[in-house]
Amino acid sequence: MFSDPTKILFQFSLAHVDNRAVIDDPRFRFVDKNRVCHFFDEWSLEECRETDELPWLMLPNVYQRHRISSLTATFLCEKCAKHSDFLNGTETESTGVSFGDGGSVSSFHERMPKAELHLHIEGTLEPELMFDLASRNRVALPYKSPDEVRKAYEFSDLQSFLDIYYQGTRVLLRDRDFYDLTWAYLQKAHEQNVRHAEIFFDPQAHTERDVPIPAIIDGIHQALRDGEQRFGISSKLILSFLRHLSGEDAMRTLEAALPYRHAFAGVGLDSSECGHPPEKFTDVFARARDEGLFVVAHAGEEGPPDYVWQALDTLGASRIDHGVRSVEDPALVERLRSQRIPLTVCPLSNVKLRVFESIENHNLPQLLDAGLCVTINSDDPAYFGGYINENFQAVDEAFQLTLHQLRTLARNSFEACFMDESRRSRLLEELDTIFTAGGTLPIRCDPGPS
Ligand code: ADE
Ligand code: ZN
Repeated sequence: MFSDPTKILFQFSLAHVDNRAVIDDPRFRFVDKNRVCHFFDEWSLEECRETDELPWLMLPNVYQRHRISSLTATFLCEKCAKHSDFLNGTETESTGVSFGDGGSVSSFHERMPKAELHLHIEGTLEPELMFDLASRNRVALPYKSPDEVRKAYEFSDLQSFLDIYYQGTRVLLRDRDFYDLTWAYLQKAHEQNVRHAEIFFDPQAHTERDVPIPAIIDGIHQALRDGEQRFGISSKLILSFLRHLSGEDAMRTLEAALPYRHAFAGVGLDSSECGHPPEKFTDVFARARDEGLFVVAHAGEEGPPDYVWQALDTLGASRIDHGVRSVEDPALVERLRSQRIPLTVCPLSNVKLRVFESIENHNLPQLLDAGLCVTINSDDPAYFGGYINENFQAVDEAFQLTLHQLRTLARNSFEACFMDESRRSRLLEELDTIFTAGGTLPIRCDPGPS
């Protein structure tokens, strides 16, 4: 019946309104037989009767993504000057796929199945777990409480964050610690409808403290396997090299990890970007590609577009982490667009690390408008104020994303990930179900007493 799945229609019975109904919220639009007419602030009942149907109202995006119970649509009957609060607390009845509890239009981004493609497992270390692990491992912390840790999370740039982030990793010593860290993340991911996660780990941040590579990899790997069993979250582990260290150090790390090759699927490049161009790591990435590992790299977060070119052409990256500075180079944007090279964008991270002054200044809309395969991710959620859904929420609020854009972002996450094609198709189908069958939600509201 409804051709445009990005609209949600609400049906009202207005039988009790015997003259003109005036809606006092100019953001409502009247939809005449599924045709959006115009914004209106006045609406006559006669007009509706002519259509021989109950009138339809289309709620604008701002309402589509909130719970119905929090909405109030007030109609004024001019004749009797009485108000009716149609939506507030009235019983609703939904058809088709449910939008969640009681037919609520809870945030789409929360319910969308999605993939998380840019997440540093060490960046999921919540202050409470940091304290637990510190006491278990008898590691002294320079903070008195988890609250004090959180207060310390004010960053001026990437480096100021990394200094604190590496300090946090000191509590991770044994395989059990890596297991607990990863398991805590997977529980959160499950709550947020993450179906697939591609997770970085920084072995050099641990081996320099004499933590053995098998302890790191086994702990994370076992949790990922358990997460697949328990929550159905598929995953890939990505061994990431620290770019402030040398190419030789990266090569030694890869060689030491290769006996555990079964447990990781890709390599990445992270840490301090400026002054550490991708080409420093040409040899180790060539070696990784020879091993059949997939290649991604952080580039264009703080560094220039040239680093993105290098990541693509010198390292052979098939996906770029961050990449937001790519927009400074139109030829690069065209390359990313035409080859569908995904960018794993992390909005809250970018604001916390002052890549953008505020979320409203983020260039996500520009990236989407350029037709790039952009995904939304959380980077280091314990440090930046939120996991994947909080990232979605932040950009959704800032830019009033359309349902089409939300759907595109989720679709992109499944397009951009490394998974077998049958699972990819199933997840895309699951996503489509929400937006087609569930994309229209006719609701009949009985009028309140007039
Ligand atoms: N390591 C953890 N988070 C990072 C980020 N946002 N950029 C570079 N390296 C990182
Ligand atoms: Zn990152």
